[in-house]
Amino acid sequence: MVARSAQSVEVEIARLARGELAVVHAVTRACFDLPYTLDTLKEYRRRAREGFLVARIGSEIAGFSIATAPGFPWSLFSRVGEIVLIGVRPDHQRRGLGQRLLTASFDHLRECGMRQVRLHVDVTNARALALYKRNGMRVSHVVRRYYRNGQDAYRMVGRL
Ligand SMILES: CC(C)(COP(=O)(O)OP(=O)(O)OC[C@H]1O[C@@H](n2cnc3c(N)ncnc32)[C@H](O)[C@@H]1OP(=O)(O)O)[C@@H](O)C(=O)NCCC(=O)NCCS
Repeated sequence: MVARSAQSVEVEIARLARGELAVVHAVTRACFDLPYTLDTLKEYRRRAREGFLVARIGSEIAGFSIATAPGFPWSLFSRVGEIVLIGVRPDHQRRGLGQRLLTASFDHLRECGMRQVRLHVDVTNARALALYKRNGMRVSHVVRRYYRNGQDAYRMVGRL
């Protein structure tokens, strides 16, 4: 998947490659107040497989997304994928990379047979909330004290 963004920078959205996890970890430290540990990212790499995507600009990783899907066989209600995390380095934000990563994650979950998607987002994270709403997701309810720092989260759901 190689295409040009609105600013004519060549961006590649692709599966995380061998040896790139440490770079993604550095990106999470730049993006989040409470970044995941490298071990947690390793666990998500194991669970997400092809759903762990990166946005590359040349040899640089500008962002990433992690989407997980339950394995087959599904129950009647289990075709629900999850966007675990999405992050774009601050110096690459507001150029459409978050949108590209989210679209690719939704495509991946569809390819895995998922019919719905869900995620959690900090109730104060207006930019992420706007991105998800623009992509057809809606707030289902508030999860009190969801994050380690005691912050509440919106649980959001959408159709794929
Ligand atoms: C949320 C996040 C992933 C969005 O990534 P992003 O690459 O900035 O997203 P996009 O560029 O696709 O869209 C963001 C904004 O840029 C605007 N935009 C997109 N392309 C643009 C362009 N070429 N020029 C100007 N603005 C543009 C979008 O309209 C959108 O506007 P809004 O913030 O007013 O709604 C990013 O802000 C981030 O990593 N935040 C920190 C981590 C985080 O909070 N992650 C989500 C937790 S689950």
